[in-house]
Amino acid sequence: MGRFPNIRMRRLRRSAEIRALVEEHRLTVTDLICPLFIHAGKENRQKIEAMPNVYRHSLTDLLRVCENISELGIRAVALFPAIDNSHKGNNGKEAYNPDGLVPCAIRQIKQRFPKLLIISDVALDPYTSHGQDGLIDDDGYVLNDATVAVLQRQALCHAQAGAEIVAPSDMMDGRIGAIRSTLEDNGFAETIIVSYAVKYASSFYNPFREAVQSKTLLKGDKKSYQMSPANRNEALREAQLDIAEGADVLLVKPAGLYLDIIAGLRRSCPLPLFAYQVSGEYVMLKMASKYLAERDCVLESLLAIKRAGAEAIFSYYALDVARWLTE
Ligand code: PBG
Repeated sequence: MGRFPNIRMRRLRRSAEIRALVEEHRLTVTDLICPLFIHAGKENRQKIEAMPNVYRHSLTDLLRVCENISELGIRAVALFPAIDNSHKGNNGKEAYNPDGLVPCAIRQIKQRFPKLLIISDVALDPYTSHGQDGLIDDDGYVLNDATVAVLQRQALCHAQAGAEIVAPSDMMDGRIGAIRSTLEDNGFAETIIVSYAVKYASSFYNPFREAVQSKTLLKGDKKSYQMSPANRNEALREAQLDIAEGADVLLVKPAGLYLDIIAGLRRSCPLPLFAYQVSGEYVMLKMASKYLAERDCVLESLLAIKRAGAEAIFSYYALDVARWLTE
């Protein structure tokens, strides 16, 4: 073992030039995925009280934002709809309406920005009158197999509209395999599946639920299908199952409090890994910016997620970060 003074760690930290040369991880604009909320109303954009500086966009306003996003060099957006209550129901069938909000948005974006990748969320919570991610029985229990059948139709509907990536975020068992075979059988062999393989029943999703307007409808929690924050081995089982069922990419969510999970999967799975810096993480950083340097803290939070092993990161800060990185 070398010792001081032969070993001086500070030699490699002395100047910005040498620090850049020995840097192990770097955050770049192509690591970013921008989540976007959309609504079918008339206003250009609606404020989301629970998420300062994040908006629900009309389909027209969406194109303006996508133009910004493309110009800044971000490669992918993830769409999340706020569905009017009149279209919500127990069966969630608006989720596969080809003229629904999400398919319309997908077609519109693809027409104007053919190269901008669209990640469409596959789950029923924006569409159900009870705010759960799936169909429920009389006791309110979320039904697995009946839900999967609806998710298959939803994923196909999004692929038909032009989404090249579908991202099931519902945590039903067997849905990756089921969606994969539906896509294969219907001529969408090239559609990429980003599986929310490891999604925890986190309390950091609350602002998102307000954004998609499911919060006030939701009774109870999602613990019977999302993972317990207490568990790590289970994450590996979830990942292995989704790999076997045909997932192309795995996603871990939330991100910042789950770096051990990201790092663990990075070591044991050869698939690309994405991570989702969720709404509650966004709000924490936003609120703390009164006391902390927002830009530096946000960049550090995302670099930490990369260092843990994520290839790309969903973040509500994506647009700000893209600007900061190009300044
Ligand atoms: C539900 C879904 C959630 C998020 C993305 N998809 C919330 C939930 O599981 O209740 C949360 C994202 C965030 O908090 O930013 N399908």
